[in-house]
Amino acid sequence: MAEKPIGMKRGLAHYGDAGFSLFLRKAFIKAMGYSDSALERPIIGITNTFSGYNACHRSVPDMIEAIKRGVMMAGGLPIEFPIVSMHEAFSHPTSMFLRNLMAMDAEEMIRAQPMDAVVLIGGCDKTVPALLMGAASADVPAILTVTGPMITGSHKGERLGACTDCRRLWGQHRAGVIDATEIEEIGDKLAPGPGTCMVMGTASTMALVAEALGMMLPGGAAIPAVHADRLRHAEITGERAVALASERLLPSQIMTRRSMTNALRVLQAVGGSTNGVIHLAAIAGRLGFDLDLAELDRLGAETPVLVDLKPSGQHYMEDLFKAGGLTTVLREIEHLIDKNCLTVTGTSLGENLAAQPKGWPNDVVRPMSDPIHYAGGIRVLRGNLAPNGAIIKQAAASPALLKHSGRAVVFTSLEDMAARIDSPELDVKADDILVLQNAGPKGAPGMPEAGYIPIPRKLAIAGVEDMVRISDARMSGTAFGAIVLHISPEAAVGGPLALVRDGDTIELDTERGTLALLVDDEVLRQRRAEWHPPSHAAARRGYARLYFEQVLQAEDGCDFNFLRARPKF
Ligand code: FES
Repeated sequence: MAEKPIGMKRGLAHYGDAGFSLFLRKAFIKAMGYSDSALERPIIGITNTFSGYNACHRSVPDMIEAIKRGVMMAGGLPIEFPIVSMHEAFSHPTSMFLRNLMAMDAEEMIRAQPMDAVVLIGGCDKTVPALLMGAASADVPAILTVTGPMITGSHKGERLGACTDCRRLWGQHRAGVIDATEIEEIGDKLAPGPGTCMVMGTASTMALVAEALGMMLPGGAAIPAVHADRLRHAEITGERAVALASERLLPSQIMTRRSMTNALRVLQAVGGSTNGVIHLAAIAGRLGFDLDLAELDRLGAETPVLVDLKPSGQHYMEDLFKAGGLTTVLREIEHLIDKNCLTVTGTSLGENLAAQPKGWPNDVVRPMSDPIHYAGGIRVLRGNLAPNGAIIKQAAASPALLKHSGRAVVFTSLEDMAARIDSPELDVKADDILVLQNAGPKGAPGMPEAGYIPIPRKLAIAGVEDMVRISDARMSGTAFGAIVLHISPEAAVGGPLALVRDGDTIELDTERGTLALLVDDEVLRQRRAEWHPPSHAAARRGYARLYFEQVLQAEDGCDFNFLRARPKF
């Protein structure tokens, strides 16, 4: 069998004459000043995800320098290339709406341009999943590194972190406890430097999960963005990329069903973001299998939450780094994980673990015998209100609300919620259940992180801090509360959530894993006959049209159907 072309000979542009294509390519790459000897080396692409709009990726230029150093030390030729970058607060309508665009960009640019291996630089919430989705589909040797978490800020002696404390303190501002001047001062302290949110939000979750999947060198997930170790890790990542190129070790050999189970296990043990479930489902779909929500539940039942980080606990990512990072977590659950899974080191997860320095006493990663939460962080719910599933981050909810039945107070859209949630006339009591419809993948669109429905102002002022809230939306991993998310099918495609009306009784039983709408079947049939899809849940042109035509529901990771290895029909 003919050898696959490598280096500059990979993936030539079609001119009908391969010799001419290579001649032309070399002529143009020489315009960049490369010598023949440089061009004979293995080529390592580096995704440049720097953007002036993305503070979480502020340090990417420094990381690229370190990665290039590592690549050249190992005898490779590093070539960086730009790729879509997105920050949570700078993505309209939501970063989730754009994640698949970034994944397509990653896949196509990795495939289109000559590279023998690629270093992926992720960080902010959607970037790691998008890069892993793209890398899974392109299936060129790939290794991930991340920008790393921010260090914490401080206000009046209190340690602060984005964005659990953003939400908590904004809630106090809404309740009148913090005035307008002080909340502005706090805004200067919440994100004090480069890097990703330093709590167990989606960025931290995906970094830890990616390391558990085997796509990142050991120790990479928790190193703070400003720490010198971050650059050393980038350097060895570049070095290792050159070896990956010669070993031809592919993402599809590393990200397997078995390593995905390890990733789900780690998601539960770290009390990870609910968004992690969606992103792992999307990555699995790219690899040709479905994420099994029942398995997530089973793993949760035997994997307690061990990591004492906000929002479930009290510490921040820099504390997890000082406690040994993911290695310390994996040691605690060593008897539960599949240690034979292959990783980007070329050796197994178990061998990597054995090669790490011995652990030391710490108060961030709890032992199995004394967890933060006895059951896993995330519980899957089913019932007539969520036939295809919903989830709740039970570790971050008020325990008293995990089993609750109450009267529904329904908001039919984000706009409706914004218009009425703080109205003194709103008919709402503390034991009601707040319901938000049409905030799912198609409904909003882009499945915004709106599941953290604010406590109505009149209840917040009266001291109510948590209520059961349910929706087809997502929630930031940094948020907390008795919040049911990802209800599927979503309201905008006619899921039962669309049929809930004010005054209906809803029953949540987290222990049993159920979510029920206690309304007579005949009444529901009548409501369904009268239901119409929201008029905005479609688009005529551009990326939005592609999005509406192709986006799947939460259980399939909200990926585009045609991007899955096996599209659904
Ligand atoms: Fe980028 Fe939180 S906004 S990680």
